[in-house]
Parts: sequence; C-alpha cells; structure tokens
Amino acid sequence: MEKSNRRRVILFPLPVQGCINPMIQLAKILHSRGFSITLIHTRFNAPKASSHPLFTFLQIQDGLSETETITDDNTLLFTLLNRGCETPFRECLTKLLQYTDSETEEHKEKISCLIHDSGWIFTESVAKSLKLPRLVLNGYSISFFCSHFVLPSIRREEYLLLQGSEKDDQAQEFPPLRKKDILRILGEKRELLEPYLNTIFQTTKSSSGIISMSCEELEQDSLSHAREDFKLPMFAIGPSHSNFPASSSSLFTQDETCIPWLDKQQDKSVIYVSFGSLAKMSRTELIEIAWGLSNSDQPFLLVVRVGLVNGTIPQELLERLNEKGKIVKWAPQQEVLKHRAVGGFFTHNGWNSVVESVCEGVPMICLPFIWDQFLNARFVSEVWRVGMHLENRIERNEIERAIRSLFLGNEGEAIRERMKLLKEKVERSVKQNGSAYRSLDHLVDHISSF
Ligand code: UDX
Repeated sequence: MEKSNRRRVILFPLPVQGCINPMIQLAKILHSRGFSITLIHTRFNAPKASSHPLFTFLQIQDGLSETETITDDNTLLFTLLNRGCETPFRECLTKLLQYTDSETEEHKEKISCLIHDSGWIFTESVAKSLKLPRLVLNGYSISFFCSHFVLPSIRREEYLLLQGSEKDDQAQEFPPLRKKDILRILGEKRELLEPYLNTIFQTTKSSSGIISMSCEELEQDSLSHAREDFKLPMFAIGPSHSNFPASSSSLFTQDETCIPWLDKQQDKSVIYVSFGSLAKMSRTELIEIAWGLSNSDQPFLLVVRVGLVNGTIPQELLERLNEKGKIVKWAPQQEVLKHRAVGGFFTHNGWNSVVESVCEGVPMICLPFIWDQFLNARFVSEVWRVGMHLENRIERNEIERAIRSLFLGNEGEAIRERMKLLKEKVERSVKQNGSAYRSLDHLVDHISSF
C-alpha cells in the first residue's frame, strides 16, 4: 500500500481477557491487510504494548477504584467502565483526529473507522459527533449476541417455580438453552442488566456493521437471523487462531513449563482443564475436580488461576496431585490445545476457548459458569455434538466417568469423529474462497469505502 493511501483503524477493546484476545486478533488480521492500527485501552487490564511493536497503544483513564476492579458482578464492572471512560475516550479520539488532520499531505494517514467491543455503549454519540464511522466487534457467538437481548424480559420468578425434570426442558425464549441454564444465567443481580443490554442493542443497531470471530460453518442459522434482526452488514470472519494466535495478548503470565511436560506424554492422552479468566468456584468444587482428574487415570494439565477459587486453595492436595498431572496458574492455551499429547479439554466454554478447541479438533467436557458459556456448552454438546455436558455435577465420580467416557468409551469415539469433521469445515472456511475468508474480504472493502 502507498504511504499516502494508508488507512488507520482505531480499536477499542473491553478490558477483560475474553474481549482483548479477539480484538488483538482482529488488529493482527487488519494489519496483515495493510491497515495501520491504533488501540485505545483502559488503565485497568492494559494489554502489553511491548508484545505488539507494530501497533500504536494509547491509554485512557477509566476511573475505577481498586475495589471496583475486583467485583464479581460483570454488568456492574462494565457499567462503571462506561461511566468512567466516556470523557477520556472522547478527548483521546478528538486529539487523534485533530493530529491526523494537521499532518502534511505527504504523511497523511486517513483514519477510516472505530471498531469497538459491543460492551462500550457511549461510542455512538462520540463517533457521531466526530463523524467517524463505527463498527462493533461481538466477542460472543452470533447466536448468543442476537438472542441475549431477550434476557431481561424473562420472568425469573416463573422459572424459580419449576419442579424436577421441567428444568431440563428447552427454554422457548432462548433455544437451545434449557430452563435451568436460564435460571443460572439470570442470577440475582439484575437491576443494571436491562438498561445495559438495551443500550448495547441500540448502539449496535446504529453502527455501520457487526464483526464476529465466528463463521457460517458454526452458526449458519443464527447468522441469517442476525442479518434480518440488525439489517446491517455482518462480517463473520471466522476463528483465525492458527494464523493469528491470541497468546501475545495474555494479561497473565503464561507458564511455559507445561509444554516440555506435554512433550513427555503420549499422543492424545492428556486432559487439559481450564476455566478462563472470570469463572469462580468454591474450594470444595476444586477439590472434587482435582480428585475426579486424579481418579480418571488420564494425565492432566490443570489451570488454577489466581482468583479462580473462593477461599484458600488446598495446596497440599494440589502438590500431591502434581505427581499424576501438572498444575499451572495460567497456560499458553493455544499452544496446549495444538499439542499432539492433548486429547480433551475440560472447559468453562468461554467463546474463545470453544473456538480454539474446535480449531485444534479437541473434544470438550462442558462445565459452564456464567452468561454466554451456557449457550456455548449447549452448542458443543447438543448442536455440533463435539463434547459432553457435565450438567453442573461437580462431583469426583461424575468427573472421572466423563473423562473415561471421552477418552475410552464409544461415545468419546463418536465425538472425536464429529470434532474432526467440524475442525475441517472451519479450516476450509478461513482458507481462500471459504465463507469466512470472503467475509473478511468484504470487511476490508467495507472499511476501505469509508
Ligand atoms: C469471557 C467470558 O467469560 C466468556 O464467557 C466470553 O465468551 C468471552 O469473555 P473468558 O472467561 O476469559 O472470557 O473465556 P474465553 O472466552 O475462553 O477466553 C479466555 C482466553 O484466555 C482464551 O483466548 C484462552 O486461550 C486464554 N487462556 C485461558 C490462556 O491463554 N491460558 C489459560 O490458562 C486460560
């Protein structure tokens, strides 16, 4: 690209690991297509600028206090972030546009657009007043993103009255979720949810398009619905993990010692266990998981992130279990899933983890904890049928049984076969002329047209 024709894109991720990773991947993808990248980010959970020397990083104040950064309530966290960031973001973007406008013609680099996470809800007025086109990056699956606006209208009280097996029925308002999933998703703290989701919907609807790291091969029906609902250009550019890994955007230090440990294990023998960056569990639940892993007799790699367990971590037990498996605080997940020794992924079903697992063809055991994870788990276990669902039975015998069944049983065999086919379909999608590849071409054209 000629210097005078270069275009710059401004990216603005929400500061949690599951949202930073897809945004940095998108940055890498757009950079590979000739765009310059500026990433505006909060002070809280700031990405490591030194890992991406080709991008420009600009930090803004977010107004969060220390205690606010450790809240368990994500809607509250995102609401506070939106409140605290609006003015600093507006000032930062205004300066950036002024600076670009004042450059000499020779060095001029046009700012094409802003791409922000769907969770930033003040961006509509800021971008509009600065006459900057705006695209929304959706960090969830397309299915969850399109349907989750219905959640505040669901009457939790009615679901609370459900008896026994009724809880296993599919929720008509939000299939393929079960009624019991809805109950857990809605939780108790709901006051902030409705206004927040309504504004996300409006902010998305008034944008110039939606980008998603999914593809037709994973969510064809939902993609068609999304096109109808939003009446906007939709860019399902696919999970491009092999070409654009997310490891460089890790907020935690990755313990690389697990790779030489994996090198010593047999092919497809290890169960990798990780619950992402937000899930929390009790000490008792961790103990059950640890014993379930140990009793399964499969070697395991367990990630016990700082903050995963409410209460003290049973160190003695974990040390004892270290003989059968390996325990780390944070793993280089994509490298792990790619490793020939890994044969299964016991996961919380965050969207990034699910697509990374599909891209590497690793079958899953599903244990969702919050929000979209419940829908992702239903897709894995019931729509694509490339994993087993633990149905929240965090009990050592159940875990042992699920692992044995995945690694040694007939069901596991069928799941592996289906996962192989799904992996191949997704691989084709991101290759030249695949649906995700074409969608990326359209996105590049769309941004260039601004
Ligand atoms: C959050 C939400 O919890 C999730 O439901 C939503 O879909 C995205 O945002 P998180 O819980 O962190 O994400 O899960 P996930 O989406 O799976 O993202 C975790 C990322 O961290 C993945 O890219 C994964 O590769 C990485 N990771 C995780 C590591 O690099 N090492 C680990 O040990 C664990």
